[in-house]
Amino acid sequence: MSIAVAIDGPVGAGKSSIAKECAKRLGFIYVDTGAMYRCIGLFCDRNGVDMDDPVRVSAALSHISLDVKIKDGTQHIYLNGYDVSDEIRLPEISMAASKVSAIPAVRAFLLQLQRDMAESRDVIMDGRDIGTVVLPNATVKIYLTADAEVRAKRRYDELIAKGTAVSYESVLMDLKQRDHNDMTREIAPLKQADDAVLADTTELDFEGSCDLLVRIIKEKAEIR
Ligand code: DC
Repeated sequence: MSIAVAIDGPVGAGKSSIAKECAKRLGFIYVDTGAMYRCIGLFCDRNGVDMDDPVRVSAALSHISLDVKIKDGTQHIYLNGYDVSDEIRLPEISMAASKVSAIPAVRAFLLQLQRDMAESRDVIMDGRDIGTVVLPNATVKIYLTADAEVRAKRRYDELIAKGTAVSYESVLMDLKQRDHNDMTREIAPLKQADDAVLADTTELDFEGSCDLLVRIIKEKAEIR
């Protein structure tokens, strides 16, 4: 039986970087589902599809083909044949992803792809609804969070290090807006699954957060 670890949580909780490192330490495949929503946001943004119009976004899905490949342990995502792994990280695409992710047809479009990726291999999958909807029978479920100000500061430092010109205030505002969208949408809203372990990294650094998660995963999945 393969092991599935579901990690959900708000924006900037460190899900991707922590999950990636934990997957490396445990020899699991890391699957970033946010990247899939970002691809759809990117496609709509670049093709002038009105993201406030679910009918238009749903129609656009028939022009989208997504492919996920793991290269050297890192996920690369291809939108209609092009590797867009870097482009989807642009701040305007974060908000686009949050908008399109509230549309039921978009979630249905990605659900099977996400489930297929967890089929017959050990995975750590992160997102907003992995423990609640995508993998309700996951071996381990973790709800990863931290205070909003701490999450915003981490995200701000990351963007600045990449050379993106942003202010801390705009990052904090954007983060709160996206959390609000993700938590209040009608379909698959972000929430802690009843059987998820709460991991709060407000007081922890990256190493400490990875140690905590690996400990939880090993304990719950009974890995020695
Ligand atoms: O994790 P992220 O910031 O890359 O995700 C981008 C957006 O995609 C996020 O605001 C909400 C959406 N998302 C989702 O609705 N469900 C998921 N499983 C993953 C992401």
